[in-house]
Amino acid sequence: MRIVLLAAVAVSLTACVSTLDTPPSNPQGVINQRVQIMKGFGGALGAAGAFAQGKSTEAQAHTKLAAAYANTSKLGALFPRGTAMGDRNAGTSRALSTIFSNRSDFEAKIEATAQALGALDALVQRGAKGEVARTLDRAKAACGSCHSKYRAADE
Ligand code: HEC
Repeated sequence: MRIVLLAAVAVSLTACVSTLDTPPSNPQGVINQRVQIMKGFGGALGAAGAFAQGKSTEAQAHTKLAAAYANTSKLGALFPRGTAMGDRNAGTSRALSTIFSNRSDFEAKIEATAQALGALDALVQRGAKGEVARTLDRAKAACGSCHSKYRAADE
């Protein structure tokens, strides 16, 4: 199942290469979509943390983690050229344009995040609270390793 999924992702990534080099007609719309997905990531980690502390149900955490995991496959396509901070007509973004020249590293960081979210979801469904807490740290590190390199620092 996982192999089939990865093959599908590989095919869609290859198909996207040329589109990723063309700035979209509505950069702010694309930026808003990816920020929305990122906020969902934050919500999913929050729900996993609440579950680990016995403050939310398995179902609540699972719903958010599954949605976040599914969204990781959309993320790469939402970072086309022309949508980084400072790009002409790009609007408001904290994304750094180095994403476009380090595409494979950027994609690898998305994949690491996907794996961490998938692992968290599996642990939540098994009810393994202690392991959820530990894996949460790994997931946060995956987010942070991309933010520290490809997102502008807080003002
Ligand atoms: C592959 C790189 C990458 C990964 C992995 C990643 N992010 Fe992001 N994230 C970004 C970039 C770049 C932005 C800025 C987007 C923009 O403003 O256009 C961002 C923005 C955000 C935002 C929006 C608010 C803000 O301050 O800009 C949140 C919230 C966020 N990320 C949370 C997360 C969480 C939680 C995870 C891990 C589960 C995660 N991200 C994983 C690159 C990443």
